[in-house]
Amino acid sequence: MKRPYVIINCAISADGKFSLPNREQIKISSNDDIKRMYELRNSCDGVLVGIGTVLSDNPKLTVKNKYVKNSKNPIRIILDSNFRTPLDSYVLDNSSMTYIITSQKCSKNLGINNEIIKCNKNKDGYIDLKDLLFQLKSRGINKLMVEGGSTVIWNFIKNGFFDDLFVYTAPFVIGGRNTPTMADGSGIEDEKSKILLKIIKIKQLGEGFLIHYRKK
Ligand SMILES: NC(=O)c1ccc[n+]([C@@H]2O[C@H](COP(=O)([O-])OP(=O)(O)OC[C@H]3O[C@@H](n4cnc5c(N)ncnc54)[C@H](OP(=O)(O)O)[C@@H]3O)[C@@H](O)[C@H]2O)c1
Repeated sequence: MKRPYVIINCAISADGKFSLPNREQIKISSNDDIKRMYELRNSCDGVLVGIGTVLSDNPKLTVKNKYVKNSKNPIRIILDSNFRTPLDSYVLDNSSMTYIITSQKCSKNLGINNEIIKCNKNKDGYIDLKDLLFQLKSRGINKLMVEGGSTVIWNFIKNGFFDDLFVYTAPFVIGGRNTPTMADGSGIEDEKSKILLKIIKIKQLGEGFLIHYRKK
C-alpha cells in the first residue's frame, strides 16, 4: 500500500501512563526530549492527533523557533469524524495549515489555511486509516508524525500502520486504574497476537530515557 513513512512519538511515566487520571495533559518529557521532539516534528510533512487530544490538551502542533532554527511547520492533521474541533482551538489559529479529517461531507469555511478532508469510516466507526494514509500520500505527505492520543496510537499500531515508535519514559509514577496509556482501545486478544517490536536504540535524555523501536 502506498502510504507515508509513519513515526509514532510519545512520552510516558515509569508506570506507562500518558496523562493525569482525568486525561489532562501533564509534562512528561525532559527539556532534552522536548527539543528532540520539535526537531523530529520539523523534519516531518505532517503531524497527526485525534480529536480527544485537541479537546483535552488544545495543542498547537507547530515548531517553536526556540528549539529549531529556521523551523518549518508540518501540516496539522486532526482525526475528527464528527467535526468537534472547537473553532477557537489552536489548531485552527491559521499559524500553519490544518487538515480536519471527517467522515461526512462538511462545507464549513475554515479560512485559507485549513481544509476539511472526507475519508471513509471503518467498521468501528473511526476514520479508515488506509484511506487516510493513501489520501495524505497523494497530497505529498511522505513523512508523518503521529503524536496521540491513546486511541489513535493504538489504532495505528494495531493496523501495522507505523514504521518507527519513539517512547520517552520519565522517572515518575502517575498511577490510576483509568489513567490513559500510550495504547488504549481494545488491546490484543491472546498471546499469539502480540504486536512485536525491535529495539533500535536506547538513550538517556535528561532524567529519563528514550527507546527507539521499529516494527518487527
Ligand atoms: N504523553 C503523550 O505523549 C501524549 C500525547 C498526546 C496525547 N496525550 C493524552 O492522550 C489523551 C487523549 O487520548 P484519547 O484516546 O482520549 O484521544 P485521541 O486518541 O487523541 O482521539 C481519539 C478520537 O479520535 C477520533 N478518531 C477518528 N478516527 C480515528 C481512528 N482511526 N483511530 C482512533 N481515533 C480516531 C475518534 O473520535 P470521533 O469518533 O469523534 O472521530 C476518537 O475518539 C489525553 O489525556 C492526552 O493528554 C498524551
